Amino acid sequence: MAATPPHLESEIPRLVIYFQTTHDKGSRPISMLPLVFAQHIALTHLIVCTIHIHKDGVIHLNDHLPSDPRFKTLWLETYIMRQSGVKVMGMIGGAAGGSFTKSTLDSDDDRTFEHYYQQLAAVIRQYNLQGLDIDVEQPMSQHGINRLILRLRLDFGGTFIITLAPVASGLTSSYRSLSGFSYPVLEREHGQLIDFYNAQFYNGFGRMQSTTDFDNVVAAGWNPTKIVIGQLTDGWQGNAHAALNNTIVELQKKWGVIGGVMGWEYFNSLPGGEKAPWKWAQVMTKILRPGLVPEIRMTRETAMELTRAWVESARAGLAVICASVGGAVNPACAPSALIPNVDYMGMVNA
Ligand SMILES: *[C@@H]1O[C@H](CO)[C@@H](O)[C@H](O)[C@H]1NC(C)=O
Repeated sequence: MAATPPHLESEIPRLVIYFQTTHDKGSRPISMLPLVFAQHIALTHLIVCTIHIHKDGVIHLNDHLPSDPRFKTLWLETYIMRQSGVKVMGMIGGAAGGSFTKSTLDSDDDRTFEHYYQQLAAVIRQYNLQGLDIDVEQPMSQHGINRLILRLRLDFGGTFIITLAPVASGLTSSYRSLSGFSYPVLEREHGQLIDFYNAQFYNGFGRMQSTTDFDNVVAAGWNPTKIVIGQLTDGWQGNAHAALNNTIVELQKKWGVIGGVMGWEYFNSLPGGEKAPWKWAQVMTKILRPGLVPEIRMTRETAMELTRAWVESARAGLAVICASVGGAVNPACAPSALIPNVDYMGMVNA
């Protein structure tokens, strides 16, 4: 294998994208590969989400088992992303409750923790996830988050990427956090086990119109290289790019290297929208990682395998809709719905 050119080695400042919506409204799988093929993007991390733990139940990716055939395209594409040098992680938690309660991963009973932790560890192993983003948006105990992080580090080793996704204000104030535990305490006690923080600078928890909120985080003692600036990708109206660029340029002048930028989420990112969601990452690359775009190879064999997986994923997604009442007259159920709308053969370059 050829060595990575030295200028591509540093992943900082990082460019991180969450990939949650896996299918469009017609149940057709959404491809993440434009993020690495010929779009002049220097993505460093892709976070597949959302993993949910269910009390007395099984682990899900969104509404289905991770092994559901509808996710064939998703998992095959993550394999190609990894080969392209992007770190592929999973995310557990998010806005929906259940994963970090006293009945699941925050249990006072270590056997209960163990039961649900093993479900999570099995998903990480099965899909070769290179890291886990822990997004705690309901109260969890300090002991509970410590136990989960320590266990992941123990089982998956030093190169496994462990991140958390606090709202930005939670980094400086426990009262304006959603997670219950204290992030400053966590960082002080176990910071060496945590790679970085995907801090949500949006929804009223932080802003990027100026450097103030990031400055406050650094002033509170945080290392600026560990803070990735989270942004909503569908809120990009008017001159949002120019404003973010100005703020980032100023932050880099003040603090040197910053942790990077994270976007929630891929499928409808502006300015391209659902037709061209990768455009957001193109703009971010120009702001953050100009000149760091890697060259990726796609063979004909891989493109054919991807095309077959796409058809299987679409068929699995449509089976449910089209078996229901009215399915036969639903345009989404026409045979043409199984013709891939992702041009994998067009990505062949090796
Ligand atoms: C960001 O701002 C700097 C400084 O004003 C400018 O040189 C650069 O071209 C801008 N980058 C983008 C992508 O807008």
